Amino acid sequence: MQDHKTIYFKDYQPSAYTVETCSLEFIIENSSTRVENIMEIKRCDPDSKELKLDGEMLDLELIWVDDVLYTEEMYIKTEEALTLPLDCDSARIRIINRIYPDQNTALEGLYRSGGIWCTQNEPEGFRRITYFIDRPDVMAKFTTKIIANKETCPVLLSNGNLRGTATLDNGKHLALWEDPIPKPCYLFALVAGDLGSITDTFTTMNGKKVDLAIYCDKGNENKCHHAMRSLKKSMEWDEYTYGREYDLEVYNIVAVDSFNMGAMENKGLNIFNSHYVLADEETATDTDFMGIESVIAHEYFHNWTGNRITCRNWFELTLKEGLTVFRDQTFSADMNSELTQRIDDVRALRERQFVEDAGPTAHPIKPDHYMEINNFYTATVYEKGAEVIRMMYTVLGRERFRRAMDRYFENFDGQAVGTEDFLWAMESESPVDLTPFKRWYSQERTPTLKITSEYHPDSAILVLHIIQSVPKNTRHQEQLPYAFPLTIGLLSESGENFDLITSDCILLNKTTLWITDQVSEITFSAIPTHPRLSLNRHFSAPVIIECDQLDYPFLMAHDSDGFVRYEAANRFGIEILESMMS
Ligand code: SER
Ligand code: ZN
Repeated sequence: MQDHKTIYFKDYQPSAYTVETCSLEFIIENSSTRVENIMEIKRCDPDSKELKLDGEMLDLELIWVDDVLYTEEMYIKTEEALTLPLDCDSARIRIINRIYPDQNTALEGLYRSGGIWCTQNEPEGFRRITYFIDRPDVMAKFTTKIIANKETCPVLLSNGNLRGTATLDNGKHLALWEDPIPKPCYLFALVAGDLGSITDTFTTMNGKKVDLAIYCDKGNENKCHHAMRSLKKSMEWDEYTYGREYDLEVYNIVAVDSFNMGAMENKGLNIFNSHYVLADEETATDTDFMGIESVIAHEYFHNWTGNRITCRNWFELTLKEGLTVFRDQTFSADMNSELTQRIDDVRALRERQFVEDAGPTAHPIKPDHYMEINNFYTATVYEKGAEVIRMMYTVLGRERFRRAMDRYFENFDGQAVGTEDFLWAMESESPVDLTPFKRWYSQERTPTLKITSEYHPDSAILVLHIIQSVPKNTRHQEQLPYAFPLTIGLLSESGENFDLITSDCILLNKTTLWITDQVSEITFSAIPTHPRLSLNRHFSAPVIIECDQLDYPFLMAHDSDGFVRYEAANRFGIEILESMMS
């Protein structure tokens, strides 16, 4: 049973023990699966005298500590955990337990659906497979042996590189997988079944050959080619854009109908709902093709932002999700039209995230407490999280952002970290102090900017007034103003952009203001004629703008920023409809 007590970020403590290696053996049979788990455990907190392992819905059969068989009176077993007295710096724990994938309707851990055995372990599914320290800051090297019937399960997959296969007695066979890269258990995956596949290869920037495969229901192989092309494009893009090379010998993708998380970035073995993989020219729309490209990319990009550098705890979910959504959005923009991608992403943000942020379930991208982490896979953590990364990209500019990302990868590879570590890397390259910017992580709700302007022809100046209002949070507390980059234009009658010259505000680049206060008054000089306002270009900040001085038909015809043209056309259309109705 789930215990719904509240968990607070402030109570986070590093784990008293860690798991260095985890060697698993699965014997898959029709009615149940036997799991043998051998862990090398290391003590991190010298004062700790007991080891607590998470485990739910497990039939524990046997347990040994350093080859001593433990009997029931030697440990405490509850519905959620197994606690063993352990007063030593390292130990080898061997556990045998049984699970029932057929009866697993929660679809967390190992379950069987449509004749396929498959796993979903993020955030806390692994504890339904075997006893483990199921938290993302415990990173272990896994090896996985899978034994199953050769006829019903010709395909046996897990994370890492395939180290061997063998045919056994009684119609069984085995596969041995070894993942050399330490990972948290939420990235563990196993798939067994009778699946079709297509294969390809990718040669990395350093000349390493990677075997690629996409597995699907037999008969659907022809619908996997677009996903394969998307995977190869993603691998190439991450090398080109971030210098990130793939690190294993194989990359496998499995598409199954019953997968209910959408898609999952398990190390070297991504599992998808078929909807995000299968497409053919006969039936799929352009939107389907682009959706597949972006989800395949998202899961691939997690290999560096999520897997090699993971989250210290689940409060930090946006560390990997906001960043990876930003990466998949910019990838899709590079592959297709940058402008239509931005328009689509902003529309989705307004439809889902702005609504969430305005309602009773509003929460910061980094929540400070939760009862059930499964409820925090939200538009706020993902999409607003991506906007927060995008704002830093805008503040730093492409080159500094890339250097800051390099620093993030260099410093934190192989670790479980927090958003403050990411911010540290960004701050190291930022042209402005990011301290007030950090409120985007801890506050909720969407700010509104009321913008007015006055033009003074005699002095050729334009004064822009920006009043930022931030609604109270869900606990009815006042919130502080946000800091954000606001990209604007002041346009001449022929649609030329006047240069922005001001000493009232930091200009991040020629057209982007760095706004940090609740009230800003910014004077622009050398503006020879009354300019038209163009605001929040490219949707540089996830805010609501109220301004009744916008000349929509003019902006539609003249603005150099495509997003503002789109926005102006929409608002103009609404205005016309409203005037017809009144
Ligand atoms: N971690 C998964 C993903 O974001 C589950 O949603 O791709
Ligand atoms: Zn993700």
